[in-house]
Amino acid sequence: MVFNNSIRVVDAALMIDDLPVDAIARELETPVYLYSLKRIQENYRRLKAAFEPVGGRIHYSAKANSNAAILRTLIDEGAGIDAVSGGEIARALQAGAAAQDIVFAGGGKTVAEIASAVERGIGWFNVENELELQYINEAASSIGTEELQVALRFNPEVSANTHPHIATGHGGAKFGLTAGAISDALEQPERYPCLNICGIHVHIGSQLGDSAATIQAIAKTKQLIIPYPEIHTINLGGGMPVAYRLGQTIPSLDKLVSEIAPHLRGYQVLLEPGRAVVADAGILVATVLYVKEQAGKIFYIVDASMTELIRPALYGARHEIVPLLQSDNEPVTAQVVGPVCESADVLAQDREMARLKVGDQVAIMTAGAYGMAMASNYNSRLRPAEVVVAVDGASWSVSRRRETIDELVLCDC
Ligand code: LLP
Repeated sequence: MVFNNSIRVVDAALMIDDLPVDAIARELETPVYLYSLKRIQENYRRLKAAFEPVGGRIHYSAKANSNAAILRTLIDEGAGIDAVSGGEIARALQAGAAAQDIVFAGGGKTVAEIASAVERGIGWFNVENELELQYINEAASSIGTEELQVALRFNPEVSANTHPHIATGHGGAKFGLTAGAISDALEQPERYPCLNICGIHVHIGSQLGDSAATIQAIAKTKQLIIPYPEIHTINLGGGMPVAYRLGQTIPSLDKLVSEIAPHLRGYQVLLEPGRAVVADAGILVATVLYVKEQAGKIFYIVDASMTELIRPALYGARHEIVPLLQSDNEPVTAQVVGPVCESADVLAQDREMARLKVGDQVAIMTAGAYGMAMASNYNSRLRPAEVVVAVDGASWSVSRRRETIDELVLCDC
């Protein structure tokens, strides 16, 4: 069973690079996230090489996973960072990113976040609101900058082939500016004397199934900016897909790039991949707490839940579940559920898997993107530790430790 170069089953043991996951998990409390930095480095290099023909500059989308060791690995590789909050900017800087290599995106930046980002010298602002332009201009003016790089986020009214919760470019979505609003802003540059509005940002969704909608969005973007030669940059956002099912084929990156490349000629290209960098490099390890058979069903109640990984509950997402040690146990159809008081706290429904018993450990696969990043303290649960296997593939360390009860109540007044 091979998920990728780093995560696979060898002699009945799930491995992360050169290490049996079981051996790492034995030394830790579960639930716990494990990431292969080697796989993350490889994913980044593959994306970088694929987008080379369009000269694409990659800003890793920190919202997918802002673990410090992951950020450091990518920054060392030369990646910029796509940040959507003051918190993500702080994490990126802490991990060693140059402010100039950070893109600050997000549809609801506060005045304080804008002021702080401008003072720190953030490289690009992706803007989604006319008032936001005024705020950024004021902040730039107050520090005497006159060349702050801005990309206007365009809502091209194109429906992406993806889950409705992660489509962002259709008409009626909250994201971006309409063509009319963008033209208005570009017609009146004198209103923003401290800004250099020289880019268009167009991210139409995540886990994109094909390039058709992207090509349509680029065509609409180019039509919109033809009268404005000062727009020299197109930021295409993220959205490169990953396979969640074992053996699933997804559109190849090279094919995707070869299809969109001709449409981008003449522009500087920026990209903001998140999922494609980290998703398949991460697993969430859980232990079976209880087994319950009722109403004709088998329930495996594990110690991970929707608070560690909300994707199944929120999007109906399917994540493969693999025992750390394979057994010859008979296959059963089971429900893998967490301890949280919600009927939606189901990690796998009607899943064919080898029978498990109390104490067995399983990995919830392809959990590196939007797993820990979306973890919560619901039910006053403690967010889990994150472990990284180094790029050498042979050593591991705790990159972020599990929260404590004391930390849980720290902000209570
Ligand atoms: N740029 C922008 C403007 C975005 O909104 C996003 C993702 C990205 C880049 C990175 O997209 P990626 O390469 O990861 O597809 N929580 C959901 C995904 C939400 C995506 C939000 N925006 C999930 O777990 O599927």
